[in-house]
Amino acid sequence: MAFTPRGRGGARGGATPRGGSRGGARGGFSGGSRGGFGGGARGTPRGGGHGGARGGGRGRGTPRGGRGGAAGARGGAKVVVEPHRHAGVFVARSKEDMLVTKNLSPGESVYGEKRISVDTPSTDADGAPTKTEYRVWNPFRSKLAAGILGGLDDIFIQPGAKVLYLGAASGTSVSHVADIVGPTGNVYAVEFSHRSGRDLINMAKKRTNVIPIIEDARHPLKYRMLIGMVDAVFADVAQPDQARIVGLNCHLFLKDKGGVLVSVKANCIDSTAAPEAVFAREVQKMREERIKPLEQLTLEPFERDHCMVVGRYLRSQS
Ligand SMILES: C[S@@+](CC[C@H](N)C(=O)[O-])C[C@H]1O[C@@H](n2cnc3c(N)ncnc32)[C@H](O)[C@@H]1O
Repeated sequence: MAFTPRGRGGARGGATPRGGSRGGARGGFSGGSRGGFGGGARGTPRGGGHGGARGGGRGRGTPRGGRGGAAGARGGAKVVVEPHRHAGVFVARSKEDMLVTKNLSPGESVYGEKRISVDTPSTDADGAPTKTEYRVWNPFRSKLAAGILGGLDDIFIQPGAKVLYLGAASGTSVSHVADIVGPTGNVYAVEFSHRSGRDLINMAKKRTNVIPIIEDARHPLKYRMLIGMVDAVFADVAQPDQARIVGLNCHLFLKDKGGVLVSVKANCIDSTAAPEAVFAREVQKMREERIKPLEQLTLEPFERDHCMVVGRYLRSQS
């Protein structure tokens, strides 16, 4: 499949970005226009939710999960939770659709996000239903959530996966990644700000699958003893040399054919150039780091002048 960016500024056909048009993304939550490489966005949530922006997430497949009250989400409305087509991600359907993850630490929010508790039927004929709790994942606060709602084809982050997350900040998105990978996965969360790192460490006390690493991602040798090989690298460091940082970490820690997801904030790289030109240059830099681009998606309406680039790392490529 040819690499075709989606979104503003992309020529159609060969290499076309996808994502929302500036200011004109289709009413919000579903995150922009389609097109381009990656073959369209299956499973994109639709509907409302998340602070009024429309969108939601329609997962592929038969709805599963139970009905229940929204513990916090719109005062007790009936909610049905269905799996999204990305394993480990769910969609809560009520008056509005919301992207959610299964709370690894039930009874607690991480950053004030709403929780939704639903009854899951017992597998025994006469057994009582059990409660399952989900946390609402706001795409205005997480680029990964924005990318999922925009219709990313592959996120490489799934139950059991080992993920290296660069630019963890205080751990809001990391906590959802930890919910997705679940108890058999791990999130190695790198953040160099000690202030944000304190919150990250506190979050990790409740999510023992998160390994907080307070270091500069430019110096991965400093934390190599903490990390084995990973299935995916996610980067959101918002630095001009982000592509190089990603390359350094992939070469050390990412398995062959592993997934790479990079959030690119155009004006952090070059505030004088058009965002589309910046995105294209970043994609080229990723190729030079042996990352084959698969997909590029602008993150409007959730983030302006940002895109998510997803690629596959080809360790053995000469
Ligand atoms: C845009 S924020 C990340 C937000 C986060 N991904 C989220 O969704 O919650 C970028 C973060 O990267 C961190 N950062 C920037 N350069 C870094 C570096 N070289 N090493 C580690 N962290 C870095 C910043 O301190 C900041 O917390």
